[in-house]
Amino acid sequence: MSYVIGIDSSTTATKAQLVDEAGGVVAVGSSEYAYDTPQPLWSEQDPELWWAATQEAVAGVLAKTGVSGNDVAAIGLTGQMHGLVLLDERGDVLRPSILWNDQRTGAECDEMRDRVGKERLIQITGNDALTGFTAPKILWVRNNEPKVFDRARRVLLPKDYVRFRLTGEYAIDRAGGAGTILFDLAARTWSDAVLEDLDLDRSLFPDTYEGHEVTGTITVEAAAATGLFAGTPVVAGAGDQGANGVAVGAIDPGVVGLSLGTSGVVFTATDTPAIEPDGRLHAFCHGVAGRWHFMGVMLSAAGSFRWFRDELAPGADFGDLAASAGEVAAGSDGLLFLPYLTGERTPHPDPLARGAFVGLTVRHGRDQLTRAVLEGVAFGLRDSFELIRAAGGADLTEVRASGGGTRSAEWRQILADVLNAEVRTVATAEGAAQGAALLAAVGAGWYDDAADASREWLRLDPPTSPGPNAARYEELYPMYRTLYPALRGTMHGLSAI
Ligand code: XUL
Repeated sequence: MSYVIGIDSSTTATKAQLVDEAGGVVAVGSSEYAYDTPQPLWSEQDPELWWAATQEAVAGVLAKTGVSGNDVAAIGLTGQMHGLVLLDERGDVLRPSILWNDQRTGAECDEMRDRVGKERLIQITGNDALTGFTAPKILWVRNNEPKVFDRARRVLLPKDYVRFRLTGEYAIDRAGGAGTILFDLAARTWSDAVLEDLDLDRSLFPDTYEGHEVTGTITVEAAAATGLFAGTPVVAGAGDQGANGVAVGAIDPGVVGLSLGTSGVVFTATDTPAIEPDGRLHAFCHGVAGRWHFMGVMLSAAGSFRWFRDELAPGADFGDLAASAGEVAAGSDGLLFLPYLTGERTPHPDPLARGAFVGLTVRHGRDQLTRAVLEGVAFGLRDSFELIRAAGGADLTEVRASGGGTRSAEWRQILADVLNAEVRTVATAEGAAQGAALLAAVGAGWYDDAADASREWLRLDPPTSPGPNAARYEELYPMYRTLYPALRGTMHGLSAI
């Protein structure tokens, strides 16, 4: 039997998923770590943590299954996107990595728009400058730690630092590379024009590869540290969202990957480097060669439900709460919830956006409030669907859902009704790691391409179809849409308190 391993260097843990030839998850090795917030708005991590955790997770999964490194055909990498890793000329880490959820770079985002021009930036890279992306983090180091910047010879992303430790090679996948917003989206590689405008040297940036392409092989040192075999190929992989899109089969336009975790992500493939002209959707390269994708990111999706449970129904079981909310009529008896509890990215890139219940009366109790939260999150996700449709994305007919929130049958029904689409959950342990393993399987020559592999590997649960409530939500959605513009000024005022 032959296997592949997908390694996911996420924000909280590294997971190594061992997958067999049929796409079945044999076992997952995992090693956790924390991230630092040395100042308000800052979020950093020592890259050494990812390497130590990779060794533990890979060695762990091999030990617990008794699989020999010799039976691993290829490795695929994935991980948190956008994080900045700076190396000196010897390959040593120059400062802690600045992570995707770090918010310190507001001024550098403005600097990017000034230097490149906002419209031009969106036209070339597919995206506006956002604090989460990599490019403004590079400018921040140049502006605030010039001595560190002067010594920098390489820019990598978290997963690519792990690649460097595994293979000794500098390389970056195109899905992750596009998330730096230094990419020419159409050309699928670094934009000379943007680098020039930002006065960044091209030599800082490694060569780019499609997700299934081999970027190097396991070194003798890395083999000794992990139990893998020296010479095992390592494919480029993809950023965690791109890899999850591969795992759930969001490869053909019209199929949507919907991830309902703390944040909510709406992901759909495009055949062309399509962009949303205002940059409200992310537009990146897909983990699948020659494709692109749109992505809407909502910051508090299942996170809104968790907040509600923790603060207003402490100790209650999520399933019980959702089941009781299922007894309430669609529309929560005239109550709407805005899910911007931690600001928002899509469709309102506004860190000062705030949550709200609107329409409260004495008739409303806990069950209506619960239902309003579940519906508000579904409306927020629908905003991304509408943006994708307006930007020329295909008709979105099938939703492949993953993440903790989709365990609730009531929430799945609300999603099907609000999105007016069939919702099917995907049976896989770790989506991103599975996508990386799938790209490794293509790199190992098991399949011709990722679409082929996905057809073989995908296991879908039975669908939830839109029901009679869909019509009621068509009436309510326009009301939901009026709330943010009406409350924006108040939200900003309140956020200053
Ligand atoms: C994607 C993003 C997050 C991180 C988290 O744009 O910022 O999904 O990749 O891991």
